[in-house]
Order: sequence, then C-alpha cells, then structure tokens
Amino acid sequence: IRQLLKQRRPRGFPPGPTPLPIIGNILSLATEPHVYMKRQSEIHGQIFSLDLGGISTVVLNGYDAIKECLYYQSEVFADRPSLPLFQKMTKMGGLLNCKYGRSWIEHHKLAVNCFRYFGSGQRMFERISEESLFFLDAIEKHRGKPFNPKHLVTNAVSNITNHIIFGQRFSYDDSDFQHMIEIFSENVELAASGWAFMYNAFPWMEYLPFGKHQNLFRNANEVYNFLLQIIKRFSQERVTQSPRHYIDAYLDEVEQSATDTATSFSQDNLIFSVGELIIAGTETTTNCLRWAMLYMALYPRIQEKVQTEIDCVLNGRPPAFEDRQRMPYVEAVLHEILRLCNIVPLGIFRATSQDAVVRDFTIPKGTMVITNLYSVHFDEKYWSDPSIFCPERFLDNNGRFVRHEAFLPFSIGKRHCLGEQLARLEMFSFFTTLLQRFHLQFPEGFIPSLSPKLGMTLQPRPYSICAIRRQQ
Ligand code: HEM
Repeated sequence: IRQLLKQRRPRGFPPGPTPLPIIGNILSLATEPHVYMKRQSEIHGQIFSLDLGGISTVVLNGYDAIKECLYYQSEVFADRPSLPLFQKMTKMGGLLNCKYGRSWIEHHKLAVNCFRYFGSGQRMFERISEESLFFLDAIEKHRGKPFNPKHLVTNAVSNITNHIIFGQRFSYDDSDFQHMIEIFSENVELAASGWAFMYNAFPWMEYLPFGKHQNLFRNANEVYNFLLQIIKRFSQERVTQSPRHYIDAYLDEVEQSATDTATSFSQDNLIFSVGELIIAGTETTTNCLRWAMLYMALYPRIQEKVQTEIDCVLNGRPPAFEDRQRMPYVEAVLHEILRLCNIVPLGIFRATSQDAVVRDFTIPKGTMVITNLYSVHFDEKYWSDPSIFCPERFLDNNGRFVRHEAFLPFSIGKRHCLGEQLARLEMFSFFTTLLQRFHLQFPEGFIPSLSPKLGMTLQPRPYSICAIRRQQ
C-alpha cells in the first residue's frame, strides 16, 4: 500500500504516461531515455512527469520550458535530488551533486576562484598548447595506422584539469591514474543505467550480492582511496595561504574554518569535489573531441574547410588565445558537434529547492527534475532538420559566426556548468592543432556507428581512425 501511495501524483502535478505498479515508468528508460522523453513531451506537454519506481519526477522538454524553469526560476530549480545512490556515494556533499545551500555556495565559490586563478587566460592557454604537443606527438607514433583515439584524448584532456587540481600533468604512461579515470567513467555510464534507477527506487537492493550497482560501489571505493592517496602526496610541502593548486586552496579553507562547526569544508568533501572536477572535466570534453574526430573523418569536405581556415588564419604557427574570433568555421563545427551529439543529454538531475509553480502546475519541494537538453537541441521551433549535421547553421551569409538561443550544452541557471570556458578553450585548442597537423580518415572499408553508447554522457562507440600527417 505504501508503494501505491508513493506512486500517486500530488495534486496539480504535471501529467505523464501511465506507470506500471511498483516499478512505474523505469522500464521505458532502458533505451535512449532522452529520445523517449522528447516523444512523451509531444503527447503530454513540455512539462510532464514520470514515476521512477515511486520517485515522482518532472521532466522539462524544449527550450521554452527549460528556460522558464532553470533561468527565470533559477534558485527554485537549483537543488539536486537526495537519491539513495548519491547519498551513498557522496552523502550529498562535494560540489557537483551537493545540496543547494551553504555547502554548494562555499564549494562553488572556491572552485570558481581556483578556475579563474589557476585555469584561465593566457597562462592556461599556454598549458593547453603544451599539452596539445604531447597529444600530437603521441598520435604521430601511430604513423598513419588505425588506432582508437579514446585513451590519448582522455589523457590529454584530463591533464588540463590536473594542472588546476594538482598543479601538474600526469604522463600518458601513468597506468594508476588512467585506471582510476577508466573505472570512474564506467561509473558515469552505470549511473544512468536501469540498475541505478532500480537502486534509487529500491535501496534495499544494496544487500543483493549481485547486480551492476555493486560494480558502482566497488569502483567508487577504489576511486576515493586512490584520490585520498594522491591528495596526500600533492599536499606535502604546502605553505599555508600560498596555494599552488585547488588542493592547497581547499586545505586553506579547512584550516580557516576549523572553529566553524557549520562549515562544509572537510576531508571527505575535498575527495568528492576533486573526483567530481576530474570526471566532469574529462568525460565531457573527451567525448566531444572524440565525436568531432569521428565527424571530420565522416565528412571530408567539412574537414577540408576547417583545414583551409586553420591554414589561412594560422599560417603554420600554433593557435593563440585571440584566434578563436578569427576562426568562425571552426567555432561553427564545434558548436554543431555539441548540439548534435548531446554530450550530457539529460543534464545532471536537478531538484526543486522549494515548492514551485510553473505553467499552472505545482511541484513540491524536493521533487526530482530532469532537464532534457537533447530536446532543446532538437527543438523544431528553433532548429530546422535538427538531425542533420550542418555547421553552416551557426554562420550568417558572410560566414560570420552567429549564436543561437536554443543551444544549452552546458545548461543554464545557478547550477550551469562551471567549466564551460575551460572546455571551450580546450576544444578549440586540441581540435585546431590536431587538424593543422593531421588529415583524419577511417581505415579502408570501415563505416562508423553514429548511435551513441548510453550513460549520463553520450560517447561514440569505439572506432579506429588514421591520422595522416599533412603537407603544408
Ligand atoms: C555541470 C556540461 C565540461 C565542471 C554540468 C552540467 C552540464 C555540463 C550539462 C549540468 C548543469 C546543470 O545541473 O544543469 C558540460 C559539457 C562540457 C563540460 C558539455 C564539455 C564539453 C566541464 C569541465 C569542467 C566541468 C571542463 C571542469 C573541469 C562541471 C561542474 C558541474 C558541471 C563542477 C556542476 C555544477 C554545479 O552543480 O554547480 N556540465 N561540462 N564541466 N560541470 Fe560541466
């Protein structure tokens, strides 16, 4: 009976598809949940609800509804849901998944300051350029033969956040670090699996000895133990109040707030926030670059146009910070990849921080909210033929770059992506240096799949590619 009561929609709650007893609509999320949700929004409206095994969830679809909630009611929709999985993993602390309130304000402010101080401007750009060279040299070693670029891209991209967090890069042969990233990113995949939804609905599953949720817990344990070790290593020789990186800056905060019993700065939250910054920065940007490489090999004429622009503007020299504005075609291609590939299709789950009213619906405080960012990028009101890869939609008749409103790969509002500027810088730099030196093509006869591997992020299925040195 309790289960049935849990499933009843509260008064004024948005409508939605009929749930099955006990498991509700969970099964519908088995394949491409973002596509399913967009289709449901065409039946029930842009704001509709799902029952995820007793967890009433509101799904926001289309640009108008998402802007109305996340932008115009930014604080109301700024919380994260207290799901059993998140409670078990990070006790709703850390940064990315923490509750909206003092803890988020403190961690967000510290991270923003560290990103500004250690991760922006000319100095950061130089770091990224340096890393690009390591990246290109590693690719060069394949001598035009087919290889799967996943690991190299992951290594290069993660090293950029490593500079901010640890003050240094890790060698591409550092197998311990790579293993940590690998099992962490496996967790990003598992976190959106049916097992995770089932665990959230029925947390007693924890006591089942089998099931993929057990892999999730095992991986998380291993990741946190590893992070604790390297945090200790990188905080040696710390000098109070002269931080070399995020960890030092965090430990300064811990010291400063030692007598404040309500502070959120703690050893646990340091580990959680370091983990979240590493994975949020790596998984996303890596996937984006892997999609970009795949699409360039698939559309050689677009690749050629990118290279023509690179050659004209750079004339053989490495890209500089200011070149982004001078390369509208590169910008258009990267924007189109972000739009079409939907790296984070459902954003990161939100929750209401107080009772909310939107379009005559009432949504109680603490309700889980899913932002279907995919539905924004495929919103027919704003995009024509959204499923077609067409960088030109970001260019005007004079070839100048044009912004689009319904473009939210980094989401909007209070909890929008904290690494957006850094991610844009990385994508630009890695992408231009890569295509400046190499022509990308698939091995003879290989046809890549465009259907993504599902998870919290969408990534291409593994593919091999040949990077042939260009003559300029
Ligand atoms: C949050 C996308 C790169 C750090 C998010 C969210 C999205 C997103 C959709 C969810 C926001 C929400 O709740 O509505 C992306 C994409 C990236 C990228 C597409 C690259 C192409 C990065 C990088 C970093 C980063 C490089 C940092 C190193 C974060 C953090 C949050 C976040 C910390 C949580 C913010 C909060 O809860 O306050 N990102 N991201 N992201 N991202 Fe990114």
